[in-house]
Amino acid sequence: MCTPFRMRGLELSNRVVMSPMAMYSCKDGLPDDFYLVHLGARALGGAGLVFTEMTCVAPRARISPGCAGIWNAAQSGSWKRIVDFAHSNSSAKIGLQLGHAGPKGSTQLGWEEADEPLKDGNWPVIAASAVRYGPNNQVPRAMTREDMDRVTEQFAEAAQRGAGCGFDMLELHCAHGYLLSSFICPLTNKRTDDYGGPLANRMRYPLEFLRAVRAAWPGDRPISVRISAHDWAPGGNTPDDAVAIARMLKDAGADMVDVSSGQTTREAQPVYGRMYQTPFSDRIRNEVGIATIAVGNIFEADHVNSIIAAGRADLCAIARPHLADPFWTLHAAAQQGFTKLDWPKQYLSGKAQLERNLARAAQMALGA
Ligand SMILES: Cc1cc2nc3c(=O)[nH]c(=O)nc-3n(C[C@H](O)[C@H](O)[C@H](O)COP(=O)(O)O)c2cc1C
Repeated sequence: MCTPFRMRGLELSNRVVMSPMAMYSCKDGLPDDFYLVHLGARALGGAGLVFTEMTCVAPRARISPGCAGIWNAAQSGSWKRIVDFAHSNSSAKIGLQLGHAGPKGSTQLGWEEADEPLKDGNWPVIAASAVRYGPNNQVPRAMTREDMDRVTEQFAEAAQRGAGCGFDMLELHCAHGYLLSSFICPLTNKRTDDYGGPLANRMRYPLEFLRAVRAAWPGDRPISVRISAHDWAPGGNTPDDAVAIARMLKDAGADMVDVSSGQTTREAQPVYGRMYQTPFSDRIRNEVGIATIAVGNIFEADHVNSIIAAGRADLCAIARPHLADPFWTLHAAAQQGFTKLDWPKQYLSGKAQLERNLARAAQMALGA
């Protein structure tokens, strides 16, 4: 867990990633002081890489009215302040996750009725095909070629803004039933043109789009792509398809695959458990030969150590535990007796006391 990781010009001090998590607390897409404190605290907390939440490339690309954006100069200014804080006060690197909500857009905040349409003020949504997510969601408009070009351009511009803010890495959200995912999943892509049908066709737009974003993003900074490696539904993508998807992403310039699953259809019946998506990461990493991020119910240092040591992923993304404890990585390292991770210098006396108390507890457990 505490070994460094290098990719292109990026060097992480350890293998823990704070996974992207929507906070639904922006007005007009502007990440305000809440975001500075939230992301800043996680950067101070020791994770090698801290991701922003899905940050939207246009007002109508948002999931909800509270989602973060990077389509104007004011938003870029706020993001730069957050990135600068992380860089000047911690050894964490900071990654930007870019996304477009597609058919799951115009819905309520995460703690309201998530994925259900807004009570008022809805905006029209687009997707690969006119397939709605749930019975109450809008039927999206199937994207035209012009729509595809516009969205690609929005992502390329957002990537350039992100590079200007100083983000160290970019992640493209192609999972969980959002716009790009709606092309990849056979249950939501019913197109009869070159962008629908077999997997190679369903990947055509996500790959065109990845190549365009790669060209707009600095060559020394990596790009990861988050996918749903299993739709958990009859007729949906399976982990075999995920291996094929990852191979195509690698050929189109992705450096890493962030291996999530599900949330592409209401029919899904996922099988949850400890580290439940790690087998998909394992297959992609070892069959395709591309770096992966494992995610999903990884919540102990032991899990991270086992996954990394067994070569099942290069990095482990940890989401909900970081909501319970911004200092998850520093605490987990101390519990393992590893004292060499950088703590903020302002907090060093807390580190010393924690390590002493943990050593004393270990001694007492041995004596008992
Ligand atoms: C509050 C919350 C918001 C989330 N928002 C995002 C997001 O913006 N982008 C994304 O790719 N995943 C998002 N996720 C999924 C997490 O990144 C992660 O994949 C999932 O929670 C499983 O990891 P965990 O078991 O460590 O929580 C979110 C999860 C939570 C709990």
